[in-house]
Amino acid sequence: MTKIKSFKNGDEEAYVRVHNEGYSTEPWFGSLEMALKVEDFSRLSYDATFLAEVNDEIVGLVDSKIRDKTGDIENLVVLPKYRGKGIGRALLEKAIEFLKDKVERIRVETPIQSKNAITFYLKNGFVHVANAYLVESQNKSKLTPYLGRNFYFIRGSRYWIPDNRQMKLLKRLKADFSVIGEFMVMIRTIGFSP
Ligand SMILES: CC(C)(COP(=O)(O)OP(=O)(O)OC[C@H]1O[C@@H](n2cnc3c(N)ncnc32)[C@H](O)[C@@H]1OP(=O)(O)O)[C@@H](O)C(=O)NCCC(=O)NCCS
Repeated sequence: MTKIKSFKNGDEEAYVRVHNEGYSTEPWFGSLEMALKVEDFSRLSYDATFLAEVNDEIVGLVDSKIRDKTGDIENLVVLPKYRGKGIGRALLEKAIEFLKDKVERIRVETPIQSKNAITFYLKNGFVHVANAYLVESQNKSKLTPYLGRNFYFIRGSRYWIPDNRQMKLLKRLKADFSVIGEFMVMIRTIGFSP
């Protein structure tokens, strides 16, 4: 029997274990998403985290964050041996229940290599609206004027490019860059019911 509960102090180790073991099946893990350590916990800032528990073991997690009128699903992970049993969907629905009165849409950005996750989101009412990119560029002076609106600084020399239109702008700026990751941006409207 699966229980979905809110994250509380003391759940950090279980969260880190599920995050690392769950994402380790994905080809991009280690380049786009790094292994977490319990010490990293203080820098995570989500508006809600829910955990899935089966027989007193934490087997899945979902994080969400509100940005203006959009509710972002930031992480959704189920341990490999518990997949395909409806736990991912139960976590997603719990996060959406938390977000639905606060935002106009739910958004998720999934690496294009994650075919399982893309199928999962399409089955759960999301539609593909754009592609986003993670790029690396040393050319800070060209990019700085556009930061916060067109591009977002990640850390070091990494930038988040939120859609194809901004990608065109980046190319026009001739800021030497390389694409590290490509993501499908998917949206679900609040009115959708499964
Ligand atoms: C994506 C993920 C969370 C799905 O969790 P899950 O518990 O296996 O999903 P569910 O069992 O709730 O599946 C819900 C629906 O999606 C479908 N689905 C899930 N995984 C699927 C797959 N690999 N292929 C086809 N359909 C899939 C299920 O068939 C189900 O639909 P149905 O009820 O019509 O059969 C899980 O595969 C995972 O942890 N992946 C690695 C982490 C990741 O990539 N997360 C997303 C990026 S943030």
